[in-house]
Amino acid sequence: MPDRPYTLLSCSVSIDGYIAGAASRLLLSNDADFDRVDAVRASCDAILVGAKTVRIDNPRLLVRSQARREERAARGLAASPTKVTVTGGAELDARADFFAADDAAKIVYCPSPLVADARKRLGSVATVVDGGESVKMRALSADLAERGVERLMVEGGGTVHTQFLTEDIVDELQLTVAPVFVGDSQAPRFVRDGRFPWNTSRRAALVDVRQIGDVVLLRYALSSRFQDG
Ligand SMILES: NC(=O)c1ccc[n+]([C@@H]2O[C@H](COP(=O)([O-])OP(=O)(O)OC[C@H]3O[C@@H](n4cnc5c(N)ncnc54)[C@H](OP(=O)(O)O)[C@@H]3O)[C@@H](O)[C@H]2O)c1
Repeated sequence: MPDRPYTLLSCSVSIDGYIAGAASRLLLSNDADFDRVDAVRASCDAILVGAKTVRIDNPRLLVRSQARREERAARGLAASPTKVTVTGGAELDARADFFAADDAAKIVYCPSPLVADARKRLGSVATVVDGGESVKMRALSADLAERGVERLMVEGGGTVHTQFLTEDIVDELQLTVAPVFVGDSQAPRFVRDGRFPWNTSRRAALVDVRQIGDVVLLRYALSSRFQDG
């Protein structure tokens, strides 16, 4: 068994590289691309987002298409992948849509000192996992692999992207560029500062470019484990 899941990072950015407004969610994609993302979700065992995305976007992170939900059920899977989040402060509301009583399992990773507090707040709606003194995405990924996650989708936000990319544990990047500008340096970008493995001397491998209505999907292979299809 591989020591971590196949990891696919999926994100929509504005032309100027932002993933949201300064204080609000932005719908950057179009319907056809949301449907493509839904298909990617349906193909994964787990979806991970940062706690800030849970707080700001209040996402449900469920597979929307009934046909895809039924197809997963026919394979003996939950209709939607396991939802995973990570928090350093456990300031998460158990009534958030992420934790709703739906068909998806929920896992919350947090640092050891917070586990008791997080279990008090969220223990009735999620499995709270001790992520160690400080949560590292490589260790978190290894733990997910042990829980049977073979295919992980990382869906934001920038803080989480940055850690997965700088730790070099992303196999595939799917980046959708939307035809809008945000133009506000207070808004979150695709990634934060960091030392990324891809630069002018090690360029990422672009494997596909697809126009989907008014957005463009760029697919990059970021590791030798990249799977085309
Ligand atoms: N365009 C898109 O495709 C897309 C997708 C998703 C999100 N977004 C946007 O992204 C924005 C949020 O991005 P963001 O970078 O500010 O936040 P984020 O990555 O969603 O979440 C960051 C939070 O996650 C927790 N966290 C991350 N790494 C951790 C670690 N190693 N250990 C412990 N906790 C950790 C911390 O939570 P605590 O604060 O609880 O400690 C941290 O504040 C939102 O505006 C959202 O709309 C856009």
